[in-house]
Amino acid sequence: MSILVTGGAGFIGSNFIHFSFKKSEETIINFDSLTYAGNLANLELFEGNDNYSFIRGTILDRALVETTLRNFQPRAIIHFAAESHVDRSIHAPSDFIETNILGSFNLIDSTYKYWQNLNEDARETFRFIHVSTDEVYGTLNPGEPSFTEDHKYAPNSPYSASKASSDHIARAYFHTYQFPSIITNCSNNYGPYQFPEKLIPLIIHNALSEKLLPIYGDGQQVRDWLFVEDHCAAISAVLKKGIPGQTYNIGGQNEYTNLAIAQMICSNLDKIKPRKNHKSYQDLITFVDDRPGHDRRYAIDNSKIEREIGWAPKENFESGLQQTIEWYLNHKNWVESVTSGAYQNWIENQYK
Ligand code: NAD
Ligand code: DAU
Repeated sequence: MSILVTGGAGFIGSNFIHFSFKKSEETIINFDSLTYAGNLANLELFEGNDNYSFIRGTILDRALVETTLRNFQPRAIIHFAAESHVDRSIHAPSDFIETNILGSFNLIDSTYKYWQNLNEDARETFRFIHVSTDEVYGTLNPGEPSFTEDHKYAPNSPYSASKASSDHIARAYFHTYQFPSIITNCSNNYGPYQFPEKLIPLIIHNALSEKLLPIYGDGQQVRDWLFVEDHCAAISAVLKKGIPGQTYNIGGQNEYTNLAIAQMICSNLDKIKPRKNHKSYQDLITFVDDRPGHDRRYAIDNSKIEREIGWAPKENFESGLQQTIEWYLNHKNWVESVTSGAYQNWIENQYK
């Protein structure tokens, strides 16, 4: 028995592999093309482990996807691989269309053909978990009810449009062919191994480097935050108990404005790593141009996954954030290794 994880060298994928090996010894095959966001250092603990294999490849490479399925005969696929950063999708959408739409189609269609040829028992239990985002639902006004699974799709960025498109492909393969896909739509994750282009690690990294802390627009946009390990637990629970053809929303019930997030990180750092000049890190907060098409608010209604799967988030935001800040403080080498070269060019272009 084995599970094929795509995008396992990225933020959530690598946390998922750590989570899975804590729970069981089932073989994991990590299929990842290692873009700027993929880092094998996240998984060095498992190098040489007989139950772990890494294949460097893109989900756009149909022949390699087919060979991998044939060789490893997985009982499930957890599909994380994607271009995941909204700002990058605004600057250069084509990679998002290729990987998130064409790559996902390629993976789903190849897996469908593989699944058709399994024996009846294996076909019955096989699952394809399509890991997606709350951003497919578009934006909410303050006070509007949270996103349920029935909320209409209204993606607003090239990133969310590409994810929405792949959700539709996964859904259609169930509807048309009974291919056992399940879609999960999750809110903003935070925790160890997140690339410091995303809000929380970027604020931590910039603060520790005495750089400005860029807040887009008025900083009053609201996101719901979920500790990454809770997301991994939710995916694992969906793999066990989810019903093919269904969608499950996953969220942390932690709605905060971006400005509040930056302020929380600053107060935390003021206590555990005070600045040499004794000023607060908050003095580094700087309002910059808004993200074009910036969604105002996301919020998740978790009731379906709680009721039907029995999953609920465990980590509270204050302690999850504290752990995350400490992780970045204790992993300066990791941060240095991912913030050289291509990262510097991105930051220069994005924040000029
Ligand atoms: P990430 O950018 O950190 O990692 C993506 C991984 O996919 C990287 O290892 C990268 O090398 C790999 N990859 C990219 N293109 C590939 C390709 N063509 N073939 C094979 N591998 C490829 O992303 P993440 O934050 O870990 O997100 C993982 C998934 O979860 C994505 O599908 C994302 O849309 C979804 N998601 C993320 C969040 C979040 O807050 N980060 C929330 C909800 C859903
Ligand atoms: O909602 C789930 C999504 O969360 C995932 O699908 C995406 O893959 C993931 O990247 C994340 O998208 P966001 O756009 O919400 O995350 P990001 O960390 O880029 O930004 C969070 C908020 O902070 C957003 O409102 C923009 C704002 N922001 C971000 C950066 C990088 C700033 O104000 N300043 C910044 O420098």
